[in-house]
Amino acid sequence: MKTLKIAQIGFGTVGQGLLEIIQTKSKDLVETEGVEVRVVAISDFQKGSVADPDGIDIGRALEAVKDGGSLDSYEGGSHGWDALTTISECGADVMCEATFTDLETGEPAISHVKAALEKGMHVTTTNKGPVVLAAREMMDLARKNGVQFLFEGAVMSGTPTLSFAMKNLAGCTISKIEGILNGTTNYMLTEMEAGKDYDIALKQAQELGYAEAVPDADVEGFDAAGKVVILANLLLGAAIGPKDVDRTGITGLSIGQLEKAAKDGLRYKLIGSAEKTATGIAASVKPIALPLADPLAGVGGATNALTFHTDLLGPVTVVGAGAGRVETGFALLQDLLDIARSN
Ligand code: HSE
Repeated sequence: MKTLKIAQIGFGTVGQGLLEIIQTKSKDLVETEGVEVRVVAISDFQKGSVADPDGIDIGRALEAVKDGGSLDSYEGGSHGWDALTTISECGADVMCEATFTDLETGEPAISHVKAALEKGMHVTTTNKGPVVLAAREMMDLARKNGVQFLFEGAVMSGTPTLSFAMKNLAGCTISKIEGILNGTTNYMLTEMEAGKDYDIALKQAQELGYAEAVPDADVEGFDAAGKVVILANLLLGAAIGPKDVDRTGITGLSIGQLEKAAKDGLRYKLIGSAEKTATGIAASVKPIALPLADPLAGVGGATNALTFHTDLLGPVTVVGAGAGRVETGFALLQDLLDIARSN
């Protein structure tokens, strides 16, 4: 049996989601994958830290941070380590990065990822910052250090999207990607169409763990634009940044417009797309009123959908969860199992 020692950096919605999954599935993972996932460190800039090479009791760690609590109240282990000290001292095989996303600087996540890769640790992250701004650099650094840098959760949470395209569609040429790439806004549009106010729909999306730390990233389309950048750079051979995406969010859409669209047999969706053109890449995020018969019009709630336009298969569409605690935690688990299988 293999033991995979992990350090969890960032212990918010997603980090807690991963640990809940590990707690629930530990027996299955041993039986079906022959892997014991042992959490040896957790560090969060607001919730404190704990490290124990013999393994942290996940139930007690989750309990410690309930209702605004701190990991410092966890009995035993070492405390007071910030993220970089944790990465340097904890002896983990894999660093799971799930701190908040900053699409302008990529920090603090880029520093965390670099430190872990340079230390010879594999990295899995759901943080879009390092993937949008420095995916190639991080992948090169990982290769140089003989480890993996995986980020399945950066697009469509745990719904297999990036690994699916990179592994299963390898050999196809992808000319275009398009779809619904943000769970928060899709949830909000669905709720607003059913009569909820914008503010209530946003608050619910936050409570359900879909929204970014600063939800402007969702409603102004920055999050979806980041995902378009990731997909364009990894799958279409582009080298674009967030500023290259022609971006409009949903803040300009009124309930009146949604109602009018519904009367006309249309439904607004925030659509992200990137397409190879004769001169480069055309990338955009914008609300589009789709005919109800369009398959994307039927994708409601926090569900996302992404179509890959390929030469050998034609269009291939993946539909599934786009955000959420367990749904995104599962993306980290997929990467962990990928690492366990290939090492
Ligand atoms: N805020 C993001 C969304 C989280 O709503 O899709 C997943 O990337």
